[in-house]
Formats: sequence, C-alpha cells, structure tokens
Amino acid sequence: MIYLDNAATTMRKPQEVVDAVVAAMGSLGNAGRGASAGALDAGRMVLRCREAMAHLLGCPRADHVCFSANSTCALNAAISGLVGPGDRVVTTVLEHNSVLRPLARLADERGAEVAYAGCDAHGFLDMDDLERLATPGTRLVAVTHGSNVTGNLVDVARVAELAHAVGALVVVDASQTAGAVPLDMASMGLDVVCFTGHKGLMSPQGTGGMAVAEGVEPRPWAEGGSGVHSFDRRHPLGWPTRMEAGTLNAHGLAGLLAAVRCIEEGGGPAAVGAREHELAQRLYEGVAGVSGVTVYGGWPVAPGRCGSIVALNVDGLDSAEVADALASGWGIACRAGAHCAPLMHRALGTERRGAVRLSCGWFNTEEEVDTAAAAIRAIASE
Ligand code: ALA
Repeated sequence: MIYLDNAATTMRKPQEVVDAVVAAMGSLGNAGRGASAGALDAGRMVLRCREAMAHLLGCPRADHVCFSANSTCALNAAISGLVGPGDRVVTTVLEHNSVLRPLARLADERGAEVAYAGCDAHGFLDMDDLERLATPGTRLVAVTHGSNVTGNLVDVARVAELAHAVGALVVVDASQTAGAVPLDMASMGLDVVCFTGHKGLMSPQGTGGMAVAEGVEPRPWAEGGSGVHSFDRRHPLGWPTRMEAGTLNAHGLAGLLAAVRCIEEGGGPAAVGAREHELAQRLYEGVAGVSGVTVYGGWPVAPGRCGSIVALNVDGLDSAEVADALASGWGIACRAGAHCAPLMHRALGTERRGAVRLSCGWFNTEEEVDTAAAAIRAIASE
C-alpha cells in the first residue's frame, strides 16, 4: 500500500515511538496520583514530554503545556475558556470544524459575534480582510497554521501582530503543522497553540494539547481529579492542572516524547517539513497542467507556502470515485470528499464533489509520489 493520507493521520510511526509505548504499557503508573515507583516514573515522563513540546513550540513555560486527547479537545477548551458572552471573534474560511463548530456554539449559546476572513482564489488567507474584521475590542482571533484541505500555510506571526494591535488574543490551530513546520510561540507572539500528536508529530492517536503563553488564562474546560488540592471545591487554577482533569494518556505521551526526540534528532520540524514538502512538490509537478486535472491551493503561485498536501479533482468524476480508483488500481490510500472544512470547500467551489487529498509524510518515497502522479494522469486520460 502507498499511504498518502498523512494529513488525516500518520499511519507509520518511528519504531522508537512504538517501542516507547509498549515499554510504557508495562511500566507506568498514574502520573501525579500517589508515590509508587510507577506513578513517579509516569510523572517524570509526562514532565519530560511537556518540556519537549515546550521546546518544539517555543513555549517558554513547560508547565503551560497541557495535554488532552487531540487538538479538537484543546481547541474547544481554549476557545470556550477565553470567549465570554457577547465577545467578538474573528476566524477564517480556512478553518476546520474543530474551530468553526465551537465558535458556532458560542454564537448560539453565548451571543458571541463571529466574523470570517476570506481567502484568495488559491485558498490563501486574505490578510487585509482579517485586518479589517479585527476591530478594536475583538476578544479572540482563531486561525489555522495550515489548511487541512489545501495545505496552504498562514503567516501566524502576522496574524498575531494584527490581533494584538486591537487587544485580541490569538489561538492557533497547529493540527496540520506541529512537528513539520517550525513554530516559535514566544517570538511569533502566539497566545495559544493547539496541537495533535497523531499527524505530523508521528505519535499515537489520543495525544495532543495546548501550549499557553504566560498571562493568558482560559477558564478550565473540564473539572475533576487533579491529584492536588483534593479538598478544594472547584478545579485548581494552577498550571498545567488548570487545563487537565483526570488521568492523562501517559502511554500515548511516552510515544509523543519519543517522537519529538526523533524529530529533533532528524533536524527538527524544518527538516521534516522540508522533506515532506519536497515530496508534495514532486507530486504536484507530476500532475500540474494535465488535462482534466484541477489542483487546489497555492502551488502555482507560492509553492513554498503549500505544506505537504496536493488536493485535486479530475473532471467528470466525484472525488470518491478517484480515491476508489487510486485504491483499487494502485493501492494508494488518500482521503476524498469533504474534509471537515466546509467554508474552505465553499471558497474553492468543491462543496459537491469534495477533493482528492494526497498528503505526504516523512516515510514516503519519491517512487511512491511518482506512482501517485502517474495514477492520476492515467485516471484523467481515461
Ligand atoms: N482532520 C483530519 C483530516 O484533515 C482528520 O483528515
């Protein structure tokens, strides 16, 4: 099988990650709960994982890295923890439902006012539109670092500048980029970065979280066991407990720690991302200009800002038919249909047939992407 669905999840993980999870399953107790050797080992491992993620994301405080099951949980927590009744929020048409739906709920239930910055014909964020919409008094700007449909990257440092100029906080959805595109919260001025472990970070599903800048204080999203201050009536507000309740996925986090170490040893997110981008560019070049093939995203105009995704359609076919043909004819796994990003599909004009999304990962090879490009050419010529 040729696996080109890394934007949905990286299926192949480094062997070090697999080994770390297996070892953790047989040795770790419950982090922060009790003082048995296993509990202390789990606590130490979780602390090292916070430190590793803080370093990877440029978050000055490791205790401000809070773990949850994935970036959807983290985004829900950050957004609902920061937005109050009647607050104005600016987001973008590039967003995934993990940003759009929490905001829709806040609009319905707390009277939040939500504005959506548009994009250009290639799916790049219209920064002028975002600047226009971010009016003084805006509470939050919620923006993706990379579209999960096109792969297009967003200049989140510029978004933070615009947000801060009007007194707003900025929450970044780094689901598609953490581990594969450099992020430095401190120098970029990002207030909250939400990440998931199972995509570019090549870690187990069920790992993720948020990194929060000092002074930013979302309300706790869930309350419960914390392992500390057990007699307090409400959930403790100290970090990282504030945004964590209940037993952590220490087994998964052992994998995340191993993965971050592998990424750092491999040259860091810049090196990983460059390799994935190079493969995607090769794939794009293999299908660019082919009669009947429409490629979405910024490849023709700004390839350097296109991440590791090639999204396309073939004339006369639904995206699911193309994905089926790729799977049955060439053993290629990709994702078709809508990708949980309805406004992005609307902007690209792909609401009805969706898009065939081929997404490259660290373990793909040149031969694999060449096969995929040849397969698309063959389908288009039939
Ligand atoms: N959000 C994931 C995707 O883009 C699952 O496919």
